[in-house]
Amino acid sequence: MLLRIYRLLVVCLLSQVFAGAQANPHDVSSQATAIPTQIPGQDAILMGTDWYPEQWPESRWEKDLALMEAANIKVVRIAEFAWSKMEPSEGHYDFDWLDRAISLAAKHHIVSVVGTPTATPPAWLTQKYPDVLRVEENGRRVTHGNRAHGSVTSPRYRVFCRQIAEKMAVRFGHNPNVVGWQIDNEYGYALMSYDDASKRLFQEWLKAKYKTLDNLNTQWTTAYWSETYDNWSEIPIPIGGHNPGLRLDWKRFVTFEWTAYQQNQIDVIRQHSELRQFITGNFMGFFDGFDHYVITKPLTFASWDDYVGSGHVDPDRNGLTHDLTRGFKRENFWVMETQPGAVNWHSLNNFLNRGEARAMAWQAIAHGADDVNYWQWRSALNGQEQYHGTLLGPDGMPVPFYDEVNQTAHEFGKVQNAFKGTTVVSQVALLYSYDSHWAIQFQKHTELYDDVKILESYYGNLRRLSQSVDVVSAYAPLSDYKLVVAPSLNVIPEDLAKHLLEYVRHGGHLVLGPRSGMKDQFNSLLRQRQPGFLVDALGGRVEQYYALEKDKDYPLSGQWGDGKASVWGEQLKSLAPDTEVLLKYGKSNGWLDDQPAVITHTYGKGRITYIGAVLDDKLMAAAAQWMVQQSGVTPVFGPVPEGVEVSRRTGDGHDVFVVINFAQEARTVSLPRTMKLLLAGTEAQTVDLPQYGVEILEDAR
Ligand code: GLA
Repeated sequence: MLLRIYRLLVVCLLSQVFAGAQANPHDVSSQATAIPTQIPGQDAILMGTDWYPEQWPESRWEKDLALMEAANIKVVRIAEFAWSKMEPSEGHYDFDWLDRAISLAAKHHIVSVVGTPTATPPAWLTQKYPDVLRVEENGRRVTHGNRAHGSVTSPRYRVFCRQIAEKMAVRFGHNPNVVGWQIDNEYGYALMSYDDASKRLFQEWLKAKYKTLDNLNTQWTTAYWSETYDNWSEIPIPIGGHNPGLRLDWKRFVTFEWTAYQQNQIDVIRQHSELRQFITGNFMGFFDGFDHYVITKPLTFASWDDYVGSGHVDPDRNGLTHDLTRGFKRENFWVMETQPGAVNWHSLNNFLNRGEARAMAWQAIAHGADDVNYWQWRSALNGQEQYHGTLLGPDGMPVPFYDEVNQTAHEFGKVQNAFKGTTVVSQVALLYSYDSHWAIQFQKHTELYDDVKILESYYGNLRRLSQSVDVVSAYAPLSDYKLVVAPSLNVIPEDLAKHLLEYVRHGGHLVLGPRSGMKDQFNSLLRQRQPGFLVDALGGRVEQYYALEKDKDYPLSGQWGDGKASVWGEQLKSLAPDTEVLLKYGKSNGWLDDQPAVITHTYGKGRITYIGAVLDDKLMAAAAQWMVQQSGVTPVFGPVPEGVEVSRRTGDGHDVFVVINFAQEARTVSLPRTMKLLLAGTEAQTVDLPQYGVEILEDAR
C-alpha cells in the first residue's frame, strides 16, 4: 500500500516535470507582485529567535517569552525538531503542548513559524522501520542518534513525513498566531540515500527523461570507455569519477527528489491551512547539493541561515549570499537563523565583535530580508550543540549578547514603517547557474578555479559602483537590467543562448566571463568554440583556453590599464571587423603572447563583451567601471567612503537607504541631500559612523 501511494506520487511529479510543452524547470517568470515576506498586521521588519519549548518545563515558558518580549522579539520558529514530542508513539499525536506554547507566545505579541520535524525522525520510527534510515556512500545505513538520518527517497519515510505534516496542518493551519511554515530543516544537510531504492528511482527518472537508451547513450557519448548501457538497470549512481552527463543528471535527480520530498509536505499543509500562512524552507547560501531555482519554486519565499562560522563577517560575501537568496524567487526573503555571537561547529568558534551582529542584521534587511532570527534562544542542557551561542545562559538569564539583540530589535521596531512594501530594485544582474557551477566543479581543470569566488569578485566591484546588484537565474527575465554579467556561464544550451540574445538585441549589455558557452544541457561539449551559440553575436570566439600556472606572470594591458591574469586565460579571436579588443595578453606562455583577452561587439541595439581571463583586483575594478559606464548604470545613492556599504529599498514612490560602516575606523558619509536619520531621529547632510555603525536614511521631502 505504502509503495503504491508513493509510486502514484512519483508518477504525478514525473509527469508534471516532463509533461507536454517541455516545461523549463528554470522558468521563474510567474511572480506575485505583493511582498509576501511582510505579515499583515505585523511590523514590516521583524526580529525573531528559534525557540525549543519542548526542551523545558512548561512553567519556564512564561519567563522565556517575557524576556523575548522585553527585547522586542516578535517571532519564534518552533517545533522543527520536536517529532518525538508531537508523535510519542506511532499514530499517537500530542499537539496540546505546542498549542499552549503558541498561545502563550501570542500573549507576549510573538507570532510563530511552525517547522515540520522531518529532519529528526524519532527512535520508535527508525527502530521499527529501519528502511527509513539513509544509506551513506560507503553503503552503510546510518544509526539513530544524530539528525538528518531519514532517507529522502524512502517511500515509507515520505508517508510518515506527510502524516505528521498533515496532522500539524490540521491543528495549526487556521491558528491566527501561526504566520507560516518551514518545511524540514536545511534540506540536503545530508543529501541522499545511496541505496538500491534510490538507484531504481534514478533509473526511472532517466527513462522518463530520455525515453530510449539510444537517446541517453548518444547524449552522454557512452561510446567513450565502453560506457554504453543496454538496460536501464545497469545505470549506476555516480560515486566518485563518472561520465559528466550522468553526473549532471544525478544532480538534477537529487533536485527532483528533494523537490518532491518538499512537495509531499506542501500539499497537505496547503490543503489544511489558510493561504495567509506562508511556506518556506531554510536554505544554506551557496550550498550546491540541488538547484535552488527549482526547489524554491513552490515556496512562498526563500529563507536562509546566515552563519559566519569562524572569523568575522565578510560584507561582500554575505551581501552576495543575501542577494543570491533574494534572487531564488526574485522576492524578499527571511533570515531564518543567524548566529548569536558564536557557533559551535567550526575549527575556531570565535565570538563576533561587539556590534558586528547588529551590523549583520541590518545588512540582511538592507539586502531584502524582512525578518532575522537568532539561533538559538537558550541552549539545551544536553545535546550536540552545548557550546553554541545563545541569548540566555544555562541559568535562564540573559548573556551579554542579549543586549545587542535587544537594541537591534528595538531599532527594527522604531523604523519599521519606512520599510513597509519595499524591496531591492537593481540595474545590474549577475547570472548564476547550478548547471554551470556543477559542470565546472566536475572538471575544474585547475583546482584554483573557484567560480563562486570569481562571482564574488565581479559582485564586489559592481556592487560598490552601482550600490545594488541582483543575482538571478540565467533564465530569469532580464529586460529591466541595463547590465547583465555572467562570470562563469559554462552551460549555454540553445534556448538559453536565445534568451540572452533577445536581451542584447533589445539594447542590453551582456558581459560573459571565462569558461562561458562551452557545454549544452547534457554537459556535452558544444560543436562550436566558446561561447557556442553566441559566437556570431560576439563577433569573436575562444581559440584555446589555458589553466594558468601559479607562480608565473601573465601580463595584460589595454584600455583598462596594465595588470595580470591568473588561474584561467583564454586566447580570444575577433571574427568581425567591428569587434573591439579591450585587453591583450603580454608575453607569457608563447600561445597567449599579444593575443586578445577581452573583446566587445555591438549586436542589435545592445552589446556583448567577453572577458577571457581571471583579472587581478585593479583590472577587475577598472573592468567594472567600464561596464557600468558603458551600460549607463548609475549608483542608487552616491559616493560613500571605503568600507561603507549603502543599500536602497524602494517602495511605492519612496526610498529608504541603509548605510553600514564595515571599515575598522570611523567614517563620515556625506549625503546627496538633507535626509532624515531615522535611528538618530534628526535631519542632516552628513552621518558619522563608528565601526559597525548603522544609519537608516529617508529623503527629508
Ligand atoms: C543549523 C541548524 C540549526 C543549528 C545551527 C547551529 O543552521 O539549522 O538547527 O544546528 O545550524 O549553527
